[in-house]
Amino acid sequence: MRTKLMFQGANNNLGEALQFLREYDNEASSMCTRVTEAQWLYATNITEQNRKRMVDALSLQAKLDRVSWQKVIQFSWSSLPDPMARRQLQMLALKGRAALPQEKQNEVRK
Ligand SMILES: *[C@@H]1O[C@H](CO)[C@@H](O)[C@H](O)[C@H]1NC(C)=O
Repeated sequence: MRTKLMFQGANNNLGEALQFLREYDNEASSMCTRVTEAQWLYATNITEQNRKRMVDALSLQAKLDRVSWQKVIQFSWSSLPDPMARRQLQMLALKGRAALPQEKQNEVRK
C-alpha cells in the first residue's frame, strides 16, 4: 500500500531510530507536563499572564512536534527490523502529517 511508503527517508539505522524514539519520548512527556500545568494554572486562575504562559507552552509543543516530525520522516521506518520502533515511527509520521496545513500536506506528497 502506497501510504505505508510515504513520509519516510533513507535512514534505516536502527540504533539511530531507537535513540530518536528515546529522546522524543523524554522531550514529549516533559513538554506534555508543562502544557498540562500551564493549562491548569490558567483554568484555575484566569489572568492575562497565565494565558500567555499557556499559549507559549502550546506553541513550544507545536514546535517540538514539527521538529520531531522532520526527524521521523528521515527514517526508512517501514524497513526497520524492530516492530515496536517501526510502529512508533509510523504513528508519529502519519500523525505529524495530519497536523500539517493542507497545502503543506500536498507539498510533502509530491
Ligand atoms: C494568579 O496568577 C497571577 C499571575 O498572573 C499571580 O500573580 C496571582 O498570585 C495568582 N493568584 C492566585 C490566587 O494564585
